[in-house]
Amino acid sequence: MDRTKLPTQDKQRDQFRSTFGFIMAAAGSAVGLGNIWRFPYITGVSGGGAFVLIFLFCALTVGASLLLAEFTIGRYGSVNAIDSYSKIKKNAKYIGFLGFFSAFIFLSYYSVVSGWTVFYSIQSFFGLNGISPDQTGNFFAAFISDPVKPLIYHGIFMALTILIVIKGISKGIEASTRIMMPMLFGMLIILVLRSITLPGASEAIKWYLSPDFSKITGGTWIAALGQVFFSMSVGMSGMVTYASYLGKKENLPKTAIVVSLMDTVVALLAGFVIFPAVFSFGIEPGAGPGLVFVTLPTVFSQMPFGSLFSFIFFVLLSVACLTSSISILEMPVSYLIEKFKMTRIKAAFIVGAIAYALGVTVSLGFGLWGDVKLLGKGIFDLFDYFGSNISLPVGGFATAILIGWFWNKKEALNEASNEGLVAKKLLPIWFFIIKYIAPIVILLIFLNNIGVLTLK
Ligand code: PHE
Repeated sequence: MDRTKLPTQDKQRDQFRSTFGFIMAAAGSAVGLGNIWRFPYITGVSGGGAFVLIFLFCALTVGASLLLAEFTIGRYGSVNAIDSYSKIKKNAKYIGFLGFFSAFIFLSYYSVVSGWTVFYSIQSFFGLNGISPDQTGNFFAAFISDPVKPLIYHGIFMALTILIVIKGISKGIEASTRIMMPMLFGMLIILVLRSITLPGASEAIKWYLSPDFSKITGGTWIAALGQVFFSMSVGMSGMVTYASYLGKKENLPKTAIVVSLMDTVVALLAGFVIFPAVFSFGIEPGAGPGLVFVTLPTVFSQMPFGSLFSFIFFVLLSVACLTSSISILEMPVSYLIEKFKMTRIKAAFIVGAIAYALGVTVSLGFGLWGDVKLLGKGIFDLFDYFGSNISLPVGGFATAILIGWFWNKKEALNEASNEGLVAKKLLPIWFFIIKYIAPIVILLIFLNNIGVLTLK
């Protein structure tokens, strides 16, 4: 019998149709601005190789464990994240509500920066090379402070995000990430090959890969852990939501490991694209957040076929942003559909419109409203501070505590292991990390982020 033809009350919840599709969607959520924009500049300002090693270590221990925790909760609930949490403990629904609220904040400022990447893609297509190296900084500053232009690209990006989510899990999110992620890998490889064959690349690679352990401080660990949260999309229930669309036969531990590896590999490769380019043109790797939008165009503008590589780079970044933003939008949308019986179209438009409107304030914060300060921070910084520094660690902490201390251990392990069929040896280690290690390290990051601890 064709299940899609059944009357609505029997209609099955949409699901991912294949393991590959789910992995592409989850890796798509993880791989984004965090890997290609944030990782290289944080590595740059944190001194290179030593930071990279610590990041890898944190990603593959705490990061991967939290990812598996979210997968387990989502698949156990098989319903939107808020209700999935409350299936485990009634009050745990507030972890889901925190994610719901944060999704609006994330989507709003994420789509503003993503809009910039769309603008840079189009601009490079028509020849970013026309801009001389010393103009790239002014060009960027003029663009982001313009009251209208960035809002248009922000709108285009949001519209694309909404369109994919409207089509649903299997036909929208899965179908699009199955194409976009392999494309992203292809573009990344082309750029790595271009970058590591530039004159002077070896010096950059040495800086990138040889850890100087004297540079490691408490602050390095904190920065690395903060980066892991943002980069792996944990703490916002986005991964809970995705996993709620998974069948009971999927191997969650294996999937969590594969997704973590893909996320770290893409971040590492992004470093191989950016640092050789930066070094070979004599630019400082510690240039900060402008590294991708100012430094790279400077490099591209001096390179043969620079516009082409610039175009590939910014399309790569736009695609990475899109596969992440759809996961942020899906989180509240799935709740609105299931709780208020909204249609998917209506839910996606409502959430998208609210996030767009919030994003307008973020965008104007770079120009017209540049002087607006709340709690001593500009609008973008305020959103990013709440999202990355508060909401993700709090969500991750609460999730770890919930599983480690409040869920029946046997039930948690049963769900994660498909009733003991997979990863039996690995799961006790996972449980130990979730119960003890993760809460302690997250607490440390959190106290540092809010200024109670000050590790430099
Ligand atoms: N992981 C995404 C990135 O690296 C950002 C993100 C955070 C997406 C939280 C979803 C949820 O860009």
